[in-house]
Amino acid sequence: MDQSLFTYDIVAEDPGTHARAGVLHTPHGDVPTPIFMPVGTKATVKGLMPSTLRELGTKILLANTYHLSMRPGADLVAEMGGIHDFMRWDGPILTDSGGFQVFSHEEFCKLSDDGVRFRAVDYDGKWVSWTPEDNMDIAQKLGADIVMQLDQCVGYPAPRRKVERSVELSSRWAERCYAAHTRPDQALFGIVQGGMHLDLRLRSLSHLEQVGDFPGYGIGGYSVGEDHETMFESLEPLVSEHMPRSKPRYLMGVGNPTTLVRAVACGVDMFDCVLPTRTARTGSAFTSEGRLNFRHARFIHDRRPIDEACDCPVCRQGFSRAYLHHLVRQKEMLAGILISQHNIHFLLDLMRRAREAVLAGTYAAFLADWMASPAARDW
Ligand code: GUN
Ligand code: ZN
Repeated sequence: MDQSLFTYDIVAEDPGTHARAGVLHTPHGDVPTPIFMPVGTKATVKGLMPSTLRELGTKILLANTYHLSMRPGADLVAEMGGIHDFMRWDGPILTDSGGFQVFSHEEFCKLSDDGVRFRAVDYDGKWVSWTPEDNMDIAQKLGADIVMQLDQCVGYPAPRRKVERSVELSSRWAERCYAAHTRPDQALFGIVQGGMHLDLRLRSLSHLEQVGDFPGYGIGGYSVGEDHETMFESLEPLVSEHMPRSKPRYLMGVGNPTTLVRAVACGVDMFDCVLPTRTARTGSAFTSEGRLNFRHARFIHDRRPIDEACDCPVCRQGFSRAYLHHLVRQKEMLAGILISQHNIHFLLDLMRRAREAVLAGTYAAFLADWMASPAARDW
């Protein structure tokens, strides 16, 4: 990797918390942090045009190496000019390795010395073998700006010994991914594992630091069934006291608004989650009053927009709650499209305001205001 293409500038550090504001430079543009990354697993954020994503303020998108390697295949994407060209999004893209997806069907997943064998249960059910080198080969063909190492994510609860073994395996895979990754215009991030055990997290981090000079770190293995307090018990000290200050920190698969606001206070810089888009397709919206589900009959006569405090394109154009209720009930595709736009805007705007608070040195007050607001009620 050409280090000069992926510099991370810390612009401000909040005096009252561990929150930071930064800019991550990539070959397809700059990413202000803290940032939320909308998820486009199969090279599409379901229902949304790239121009709409841009209009909502999206700075970087996520896609998934496992899914794209199954369909349409990494060679096809490469033939079509790489993932940016293929999906017509010219901004930064991050691809996750698929470590999370592969291990989410544990019964169809076998570890070998050399890598992992798994059944592609979301597709044709055939057995697929991956070494870390195979995974890097796919990631390099897809051509995202940032790619994640192959790792093993363990659910919660899990015996400590199992978590310990996943840390050791993920460390060996980090080393092999690091050695196999050669694309200069692409950054490879390591992933810290270790479950809810701070000492295992620190061991994982220290292994990664021995492997090489990763330009950034994922924090994996959270949001796997634990409650929020259990997560913050190890996440808070890991991030605020131990992770290198100069590198971006990406908390993987976490997208609850309150978790984002709290994790930024610990010093997390990047987030992704399917929550805003997946729950949108079931009629559920993030709002300044907490979550609303438009399936509910109480919206039948409601003329108000999704959120009166929101300036997203959907709320600005005056689509009423009554209309959304109708679309959701009739299973109209516009329901998911409109609520997805609003929800993505909500998280992007939340991180924009968080960044402003860090720049103003008032993040502690921002956090306290959020926690006291009705929006923090359900998470
Ligand atoms: N997405 C959410 N959690 C994880 C994780 O632990 N590993 C990877 N690769 N992706 C994730
Ligand atoms: Zn809105």
